[in-house]
Amino acid sequence: APDVRLILHRGFYLIPGVNSPVVVDQIQNWEIRDSDIFLITYPKSGTIWMQQIIILIEAKGNAMATAGKPNCERMPWIEVKGSEETFLQAPLSSPRLSVTHLPYRLLPVGLRQKKAKIIYVARNPKDALVSYYHFHHFAAVLETPKDFNDFFEKFMDGRVYGNAWFEHIKAYYSHKDEMNILYVTYEDMIQDLRSVVEKVCSFLDRELTDSQMASVVEHARFNNMVRNPSANYRQVSATLLNQQRGSFMRKGTVGDWKNLFSVAQSERFDKVFKEEMTDVPLSFKWD
Ligand code: PPS
Repeated sequence: APDVRLILHRGFYLIPGVNSPVVVDQIQNWEIRDSDIFLITYPKSGTIWMQQIIILIEAKGNAMATAGKPNCERMPWIEVKGSEETFLQAPLSSPRLSVTHLPYRLLPVGLRQKKAKIIYVARNPKDALVSYYHFHHFAAVLETPKDFNDFFEKFMDGRVYGNAWFEHIKAYYSHKDEMNILYVTYEDMIQDLRSVVEKVCSFLDRELTDSQMASVVEHARFNNMVRNPSANYRQVSATLLNQQRGSFMRKGTVGDWKNLFSVAQSERFDKVFKEEMTDVPLSFKWD
């Protein structure tokens, strides 16, 4: 197993060689435009799914617009090396689309003045944990866990890229009134993708015809994303992802945690969830 150490930078874990501490230091001062669109998630919560949806909405459902180059080039990660050039030099003519796992406190301060639009996607954290566990086998840049229990402990301690799930969601929740934010859950997307796409369109002020809307929904379906290398990160280099050891598009279901959590782990998780989320009235579907 590769022994890849995360770097703790300003209290936040970064992936060496992928994320840039220098960029992370500058991001807070980036100038924000009203037309900017940020997708913010804790890892494994539906990021590349919503990324595909936003790109499709911007292309009015034209699937050709999501082919040819990876979605992470159309909608780059801000905490990744080299992002500042793309972001700061982008022409004014079309909205800048960005993705990030950064916590609230490391975001551009302009977002607190309700500039730009933020879509925050959350997923029930037991499923996010399980998805993240599998991702640690797939990603060549992350340390392969010894076993599930090893990863469970890391996740509970927040010793992963993204830090603690509870801290991430609580910070965004408690500062939501400062930002222009739409909150969406992965489970809602599973249950009724079209309604979520409609919500995103109205939040972004985009009007789509019925057939454009149908096309966005269709091309964001799991089975279609599996076949779309621009959307599923199959084009990402082998130094970052062990393409033969897994996939971004793994299962795409709700409740997979039941296949790995022991009863004791589940009970412990529920207890922590209850304590941590006392003042946060967000609820999740667990199966
Ligand atoms: S990352 O690394 O944080 O960007 O990963 P992220 O995209 O947030 O999470 C990956 C999980 O999202 C699932 N996914 C989908 N589920 C249903 N439908 C669609 N279209 C879809 N696209 C991505 C993907 O399968 C990962 O979840 P798991 O549970 O591992 O299958």
